[in-house]
Amino acid sequence: MDFKNKHVLITGASRGIGKATALAFAAQGAKVGVNFKRNHEEAKKTLKELEGKGHRLFQYDVADKTMQEALINDFISVYGTIDVLVNNAGISIDHDIEETDFEEWFAAWENTFQTNLFAAANLSFLAAKQMMTSGGGNIVNVSSRGAFRGEPTKPAYGASKAALNAMTQSLAKRLAPHKIYLGVVAPGFTETDMAAKTLTPVERENLLRESPFKRMAQPEEVAHAILFLASDGAAYSSGSIIDVNGASYLRS
Ligand SMILES: NC(=O)c1ccc[n+]([C@@H]2O[C@H](COP(=O)([O-])OP(=O)(O)OC[C@H]3O[C@@H](n4cnc5c(N)ncnc54)[C@H](OP(=O)(O)O)[C@@H]3O)[C@@H](O)[C@H]2O)c1
Repeated sequence: MDFKNKHVLITGASRGIGKATALAFAAQGAKVGVNFKRNHEEAKKTLKELEGKGHRLFQYDVADKTMQEALINDFISVYGTIDVLVNNAGISIDHDIEETDFEEWFAAWENTFQTNLFAAANLSFLAAKQMMTSGGGNIVNVSSRGAFRGEPTKPAYGASKAALNAMTQSLAKRLAPHKIYLGVVAPGFTETDMAAKTLTPVERENLLRESPFKRMAQPEEVAHAILFLASDGAAYSSGSIIDVNGASYLRS
């Protein structure tokens, strides 16, 4: 996969899957915009580890409407075009219905959708408008196995990822004539801070016992699927959802 001189913006790239994706794109020649929200130290470390030149940090809260516009404008002012957008930034908030009051429930739904769905929708809109003027591009959205399997204690998370899948597939149809190709990568549990925060030691042990691979995904394995969907040869795969869950949940 060759991304020489492609301009790639990855949201939530200071850590975890986003960081692995930034490293993988840079290794294939891309110039990478590393977006993050607050963890400047980790973002600086990521930037330092990227192969090649021309990468930059973009500190913007993608859940904030004005920052969504500012992020895309800033990226375009630096690179001139946006070739690939990876909507990876995501949050996962526990709001078990047995233990949550209405205020907590309401806030969990609002915050989860702002980050996991509305940010991706709005950044896709803004990036696609740019891509339409420059001959096309690719948008890859990072969803989750939870969209299909259910998320009993985080229903907003499961719903936001299911909506992200539907949005991606709708836009894949609408934007194909503009040579803008969209895809989804749906990971199962992946060794990142998010998984470490979400799982108790007992849950982790159960999960590993039930996994055919007896391990979680590594962020690099998710990044590999993201790069495939953004690569030149994958245009006709637009609208696809790639599961990266080690055969732990097989949907028909
Ligand atoms: N890990 C898993 O098991 C798993 C499984 C399925 C799907 N996923 C999905 O994969 C994606 C990445 O997850 P991860 O595990 O790598 O997460 P992570 O380790 O928690 O890292 C989250 C990243 O997103 C950034 N971020 C969060 N909110 C943001 C905002 N409002 N604006 C800008 N950046 C923001 C963080 O920036 P800061 O460093 O500045 O905080 C960080 O770079 C998410 O969409 C997640 O839902 C993860």
